[in-house]
Amino acid sequence: MTENVPHLVAARSVPETHPAVLLESVVKSYDRTRAVEGVALRIAPGEVVALLGPNGAGKSTTLDMMLGLTTPDAGTARLFGLTPTDAVRRGRVGAMLQTGELLPHVTVGELLGLVAVLHDRPQNVAPALEQAGISELRARRTHKLSGGQAQRVRYALALVTDPDLLVLDEPTSGMDVAARAAFWDTMRGHARIGRTVVFATHYLEEAGAHADRIVLLAGGRVVADGSVTEITSAATGRTIRATLPGADVAGLSTLAGVRAAETRGETVVLDCTDSDRALRALLAAEPGARDVEVCGADLTAAFLALTEGELR
Ligand SMILES: Nc1ncnc2c1ncn2[C@@H]1O[C@H](COP(=O)(O)OP(=O)(O)OP(=O)(O)O)[C@@H](O)[C@H]1O
Ligand SMILES: [Mg+2]
Repeated sequence: MTENVPHLVAARSVPETHPAVLLESVVKSYDRTRAVEGVALRIAPGEVVALLGPNGAGKSTTLDMMLGLTTPDAGTARLFGLTPTDAVRRGRVGAMLQTGELLPHVTVGELLGLVAVLHDRPQNVAPALEQAGISELRARRTHKLSGGQAQRVRYALALVTDPDLLVLDEPTSGMDVAARAAFWDTMRGHARIGRTVVFATHYLEEAGAHADRIVLLAGGRVVADGSVTEITSAATGRTIRATLPGADVAGLSTLAGVRAAETRGETVVLDCTDSDRALRALLAAEPGARDVEVCGADLTAAFLALTEGELR
């Protein structure tokens, strides 16, 4: 896969005035399962948004409603001001789904060609294959692909209409390390040319590294929405560590901005509500503190804290 985005350049002459994605209080139940319980989401053109959440949180159902594959029981979904079906029909949306077989007994090239012709974009087949890093699989029959290769074909299918919005449900699952790295390289290219990307993932590091914004779902609801820094600091605060032999733990725990203090050998660990204030207070109270580190909370801890009790 190459980082530049040859030929597939979403050069729309009219600036987009609508949100790329607008979900208004969408609700979806299956039999007795409330899969999505009122999700509101507005995504601006050019945003790269990760949808996180435990298994069964409602990520795929939310994405399916975005794509018009599932109709909400209540609420509305709009893409660029259009109904999802219209937006998809006009080639403005490329999607990779979590489930679904590729059409069997055709070659990869034929499959892409079919989708490209349906959208009047036959010239896009070669660049889509190139971006997905599978030009050499063009003549391979779809039922002879490995799992990771099939996933890359799904990626090429998402690109072949030259979409403004990419909706990707666990896009890198099954991809090997190199394919995954190359995939995210091309994602940066999409973001640079102003494409909107919404992806669901269980790889928190991918979300942290590649998304501008994280939407955390649990039990069919949005439980957090913001940048990685916003989400992690809201959920878990920060920690200060310092080397301080013979520290007075009780005294440290009363410092401004500190919630709790403990020692591990000669290291003190301060759990902070406000790490800036705590750092100033620590250095004033204990000028002998060495090797001071302020550690941001990580996304894993925030994820667990925010989704706790929502796991079904
Ligand atoms: N077609 C369906 N029929 C019945 N129940 C469904 C269907 N699709 C999803 N569900 C249920 O709806 C809830 C949300 O499922 P969904 O697939 O949206 O979760 P998810 O966040 O994508 O999970 P995962 O991380 O496992 O992919 C789950 O409880 C699931 O069992
Ligand atoms: Mg899913």
